[in-house]
Order: sequence, then structure tokens, then C-alpha cells
Amino acid sequence: MTHKETRQKFLGFFKERGHKIVPSSSLLPTDPSVLFTTAGMQQFKPYYTGQADAMKDFGSLNTVSIQKSMRMSDIDEVGDESHLTFFEMLGNFSFGGYWKEAAIAWAHDFITKKLGLKIDYVTVFEGLPSAGVPADEESEILWKAVDPKLTIKRASIQDNFWGPTGNEGPCGPTTEIYVKGVEVWNIVFNEFYYPGSREELLSGASSKKLENLKTAGIDTGMGLERLAMVVQNKNNVYETDLFEPIISSLPDHLDLGAKRIIADHLRSAVFLLSESVLPSNKEQGYVLRRLIRRILAFNISKDVIDIIINTYEAQYPELRVKRNDILDAYSQEQEKFNKTLRNGINELRRLNEIRAPEAFKLYESYGLPFEVIKDVAKDKAKNLTREAFDTEFKKHQDKSRAGAEKKFGGHGLLLDTGELKAGNKEELKKVTRLHTATHLLHASLRKIFGEEVKQQGSDITPERLRFDFTFPRKMTPEEIKQVEDMVNEAVQKDYKVIIEEMSYEDAIKSGAMAFFKLKYPNRVTVYTIGPSTGSGSAFSRELCGGPHVSHSAEVGHVKITKGEAVSAGVRRIRMVLDEP
Ligand code: SER
Repeated sequence: MTHKETRQKFLGFFKERGHKIVPSSSLLPTDPSVLFTTAGMQQFKPYYTGQADAMKDFGSLNTVSIQKSMRMSDIDEVGDESHLTFFEMLGNFSFGGYWKEAAIAWAHDFITKKLGLKIDYVTVFEGLPSAGVPADEESEILWKAVDPKLTIKRASIQDNFWGPTGNEGPCGPTTEIYVKGVEVWNIVFNEFYYPGSREELLSGASSKKLENLKTAGIDTGMGLERLAMVVQNKNNVYETDLFEPIISSLPDHLDLGAKRIIADHLRSAVFLLSESVLPSNKEQGYVLRRLIRRILAFNISKDVIDIIINTYEAQYPELRVKRNDILDAYSQEQEKFNKTLRNGINELRRLNEIRAPEAFKLYESYGLPFEVIKDVAKDKAKNLTREAFDTEFKKHQDKSRAGAEKKFGGHGLLLDTGELKAGNKEELKKVTRLHTATHLLHASLRKIFGEEVKQQGSDITPERLRFDFTFPRKMTPEEIKQVEDMVNEAVQKDYKVIIEEMSYEDAIKSGAMAFFKLKYPNRVTVYTIGPSTGSGSAFSRELCGGPHVSHSAEVGHVKITKGEAVSAGVRRIRMVLDEP
């Protein structure tokens, strides 16, 4: 059975059982406390907490999806038989619909009847008396009911309790299915909400308590790669048809471990690039840079990118759509890398010993990734560990964060959306004006330079706005003036700023701009600025969480103070309020 058939069987099986098929959400989650989407349930969090209504949005209390996911926790293990950074997760979900009995019976049927596999054993939660959570005897009874001969083992909170992801969220006991010794399916009974992180929960030292969830529900996750491995009777994920074409396209002289690293990292990089992430020195861009630079050292032909796109495009059409962008970004990173690599390696050779501070300096100044430093420096870096490097990295991040805190008085901000920060009412007014100015700037750039301008990020403080966007070259002073004039003209026309709530589909149909994510929540807010609404003729129309001024004249006259380059293909504009 091919992986494509396996995907379809899974979706079909749950569709027949009343589940609405929901597309994968973006790899970049809306939850700012996590860098990547790591599980299928993430896009459904609000349906468990009662903030959103599944019946209204899906016409059903049950959904099924195949979610693009990334986990960086195992990146150093990639190259062995089973660890991956990117994977696809098959999942069925219920938000107050069915409960344990159906979840267990269906999982059993799917594995044994649809796929014809034999279950080795299952595990259930042994309970956590200190938190008032009993052993999951109910699941034991239900498993016995579907197969009296099945081996059932009890497992601890480490293995059989899911979540929460991020800083807080839904969580609950799990039951897991093992086939051919491999854990293939994790079924979560989401019945609690924990107001803290998983680390706090596991520490047992926090005073925070598990609360009962508004809508108890089911969340399941089955990694497609591992499932394909047992279905196709292979020894490891790289021998399945998900990877085989990629691995066999790599040069023969490479050893198996290197081939696996290239296949894994390039696949992850292609998916991130397809979502407009670009290599940079922070957050997702930093991870992407690490993935790409690891591969560049092997000098791999770009044809491999096309093989990845061919393998995945039927399920993820965005790969084909973004093919040229993906290839361009890859080449640009390659050029940059070659240049800095030479300088960095020269510097590295001058050093006698390389520990974490030197390694971080080499990374920061020359972009040399940890892996390359280890590879090139050999004995000189024998005391350098990944942990020490990461600690150094974090120290540096903390320093820049501390800088931001100091600037805002080091205490509670009145507003912090990640994009906008204000410490008091006065500042709130200014960032709100600059936020509306950001939309006007974005729209002006696209009117002047066309659709190739895509927002890459923005950051707004009371003093200025900073707006990053894709653009291949330096802007001329005349062009900068033209952009500034267009923004000021829109300010002067005193357009009304209209907020509407609508479905994501309607928003896109109405021409609203939405660049960051492939998948937004089902209900979104759209801000329209301009002469008329409900048609393409508005000056600006964007998906956004606000806040904004109510008329564009409130923004006041603005000035562009700087145009600069951020990275290859990305420019930055700084703009300030010209009137107090
Ligand atoms: N959230 C659970 C997991 O990721 C089940 O989907 O394993």
C-alpha cells in the first residue's frame, strides 16, 4: 500500500464515520509560544476550550486531518533509523462528540481491518493520584471488549499523558497502539485544561491545578512515516515510498547517515520555504538556516528539491505554487553561505580552542552553524557540546529580550501582541496609529511594486514601525518618496477603517491579504481601509487582529526614515509619525 493510499484510507474511514475533513494548518502556528506546529490538535485548541464552535465551523463535532508538523527536539538524532524533523500526522478529533468507546473501537478497526495489521500491545495511563487523576480502567475495559486477547500495559505520565503544548492548554491521559514494536498511534482523551506548561505539570512542584475542560474530546495522532514503515514492511522510514525517491537521487559516494540527514533536512526546508519562511537569524528563520546550511556542505544538486516537490505536491499544492521561490531562496542562501563560510573558516583556523563562546561568535559573525564548526574544527572543538552552544545562544537572546523589557519599564505592558508593544495609554495611541500606517504602507508598496511585495514581518513600538517585505533590490530615493506620498495621501483622504468578522474563505474571496499562514482560524477579522468595501477597490484590506484607528486621518502625517536590507530578497522600511 502506497503512502498516498494510506492517507486516503485514513481520511475515508473517518469521513464515513461523520468526520469533516479539514486541511492541514500552517507549519507556523498562531500560538506565539511555540515555534512550529507540532501536532494536529493545535489548530483545534479553541474547540476544546469552548472559544470556538465546531458545529458552526465544520457542521460536525468531529474532524479528521493530515497535519504538516515539525519537531526540533530530535534534530541531533536525525540520520539514525527513525528520527525526523518534519512529519505528517494523521488525526481524528472530537469536540464533545464521541468519547473513549468509539475512539478505541475505530482505532482498532482501522489498524486491524482496514490496514490488516496485528496490534502487539496497547498502553493505558496508570494514573496520577497526587493530581487526583485515577488509572484509566475504562480504556482497559474497552480494549478488552474489542479484543479479549489483547496485551494491555500501564504507563506513566511521561509516556501516557499528552500536553499541554505551549504555555497552557488542553491535556489528558492517552492510550497508545504498538505494531511491530513501534508506537504508531497516540489517542488522547482531552479532558483537562492546565494553566501552565507541560514542564510545570510534570515537575509536581507547581501550585497550578488541572481543571476540567469545557468540552472533553478526542485528539489522536499517527505519524504517517512510521505507519508507512509498518504497512510497507520496511526496516526504517527512509525505505518507504515517502523517502525512497529522495534517497535514491542522492550521490552514491555519500554514506547512509548523510543521505538521511539530507533527505530529512531538505524536506523540512522545502516545506518551510513553501510557507514563505526565509533563512534568518531568529526564530523559524534560524531553524531553516540551520537545516539548509547543514545540507549545503554536501553540495547537493537542486534537482533533489524537485523530487521532493513531485513526491508531495498532490497533497500539498503550495509546493508547486512556490517552486520558484523555494529554488531562489535556496540558491541565495547557498551563495551567501559560500561567501561567509570562507571568511568564517579562516577565522576558525586562527583559533586554538573552540568552546561555546567562540562557536557562538563564529555563528553570529559568519553564520557558521554548530554542525559545520564541529566538522571543520575537529579536535579543536572536542569540548564543544550542543548544550553549551544552545545555552550561549539563549544567553544572547535573553540579553536582547532584557533590552526590550528595560525599554518598556520592565513591567507589565498594556499591549503586547508580539507585533505591537505599548507600556501606557499614550504609547497605545501611538502604536495604534502606526499599526494602521503599517497597513497603508503595505498596500502602497503593493500598488507601486506589484504582487511580489509580500509582508515578512512587522514590529511596532511607540517610536516607529518597522516593516519587512520581499523585494529583490534597493529602492531608489524617488521610490521611497513615492511610497511615503501614497501613504500620506491615504491618510489625508480620511478613509473609514471598517472591521468585519467573516469566515476565512469569504475573507480571501473578498481580496483580503493574508500572507503569514496557509491556514487561519475559521472565523477571522478583516480590516478594510478605503473608499468602498466588499469589493477589490478598497485601499487596503487585510486579515488582522487590530487594534486600529477608526479613520485614516487619525494616523497623521508619516515619514519614512530608512530603507535597508534585512537579508537576501528582504527589505526593511522604518517609518515614524511626523505629528505628535
Ligand atoms: N496530540 C497528540 C500527539 O501529538 C495526539 O495527536 O501525539
